[in-house]
Amino acid sequence: MQHATVTLDPAFTVAPVRRRTFGSFVEHLGRCVYTGIFEPGHPAADADGLRQDVLALVRELGVSMVRYPGGNFVSGYRWEDGVGPLDRRPRRPDLAWHTIETNRFGTDEFLRWCGRAGVEPMMAVNLGTRGVAEAVDLLEYTNHPGGTHFSDLRAANGNPKPYDVRLWCLGNELDGPWQVGFKTAREYGRLAAQTARAMRMLDPNLTFVAVGSSGSGMPEFGAWEAEVLAETYEEVDLISAHAYYEEVDGDLGSFLASNLDMEHVIRAVTATADHVGARLKSTKRIGISFDEWNVWYLSRFQNQPPPTTWETAPRQLEDVYHVADAVVVGSLLISLLRHSDRVEAAAQAQLVNVIGPIFTEPGGRAWRQTIFHPFAQASALARGTVLRVAVDSPVYQTPKYGDAPLVDAVATRDDDTGEVALFVVNRSIDHPVRLTIGTRAFDRDLTIGAATVLADDDVYATNTADAPDRVAPRPHPGVTPGSLDVVLPPVSWNVVPLS
Ligand code: AHR
Repeated sequence: MQHATVTLDPAFTVAPVRRRTFGSFVEHLGRCVYTGIFEPGHPAADADGLRQDVLALVRELGVSMVRYPGGNFVSGYRWEDGVGPLDRRPRRPDLAWHTIETNRFGTDEFLRWCGRAGVEPMMAVNLGTRGVAEAVDLLEYTNHPGGTHFSDLRAANGNPKPYDVRLWCLGNELDGPWQVGFKTAREYGRLAAQTARAMRMLDPNLTFVAVGSSGSGMPEFGAWEAEVLAETYEEVDLISAHAYYEEVDGDLGSFLASNLDMEHVIRAVTATADHVGARLKSTKRIGISFDEWNVWYLSRFQNQPPPTTWETAPRQLEDVYHVADAVVVGSLLISLLRHSDRVEAAAQAQLVNVIGPIFTEPGGRAWRQTIFHPFAQASALARGTVLRVAVDSPVYQTPKYGDAPLVDAVATRDDDTGEVALFVVNRSIDHPVRLTIGTRAFDRDLTIGAATVLADDDVYATNTADAPDRVAPRPHPGVTPGSLDVVLPPVSWNVVPLS
């Protein structure tokens, strides 16, 4: 059997575990909002139409923050359409997804939902087809205490208390030609800087995310960030990164190694931001908001004929996830945690139905997709400080990334209790790997607690409404009692608590 070691040392730390790492994303797209989080008349919906069964799953998932309302959708959105009396809200074509937006759900409904879910809102403003004025108006609506047009409108709409939204995305993917109102880096950077400056005049205590490249494959990746940050450096706090992964042409090995690309993105964006900072003689450090990441079978979506009808909340991007997808999601979480010194926020895209960890049927049940589990476990158990883990693993050959380590891992240590949580993937398609955990540097012996594993003889097994727990973490059969050895099954996500 192949053998890997991970060595932990409480002195080798990365950064505090950031709650904002466990963000998610709700876009007006497909059935994420309508018949996802919001379905008036559903047996589990409350008086506001918010599905309580979904809310319970969102809380269990451990989501800390939710980005809204897009995504591509935001670049054509008029936020004023979605507030006020329902009978006065216009129906509009959404150009991004070729659907009809009823505006039945808008800013107030979303922010109320955030309160119920116990999550922080991350609001995106439209810098595709709109600009500084509309962004400041929205901020006035959400944050201003009262006595002005939009704050009074909020009160008149039944919400006298400001929502106090702190985290703002300055547009979405404006480097992408698919984006309504896409721009050059210079055009976007100037608009983003002006918008942030004006919004801070109204509320000085805001955190801003500038739009980074839509993916590492974009022709301008790196150059876009450099130019945007040259315009915005002193106005913004974070730059966004987006990445989606899928298995292509049956190449499971490369797919399982997807976090090597995420590592590359984080390193490249960090280096680019630091380079701009150096050129500007600035001591400020820009962080990364990895505010769209996930497994997404994008090529299936791209191979479909474009829609010809205008429907309301059609089924779009409803990927059904399997075991290998969950292992990839686990490895992406490992990378996000490992880079907690620079990744200050992240959002899995998306939350419900649309490439989401939660799935619902209209009028019916809600259940956990396979990818729900690594997220929920990492969010629940990653506490305190991220440790710099030394991983010594055999490698395997991938067509896409060359050599990839079979085993990847990250650990966190709760500063109060001393409990360590080790998150590990084995990417081998057909072989278990024996893992030895080195803990010599700790001042007392550590023992393995209730370890779990998510794996299956069928790596393409999924969860369904009738078999919602077909794929879930189970008690780990590979722990040798009294040792720090764990046998990791092939294609597995493992959580090993040490106390
Ligand atoms: O998450 C789906 C879409 O992916 C988002 O709307 C867009 O920002 C990205 O291209």
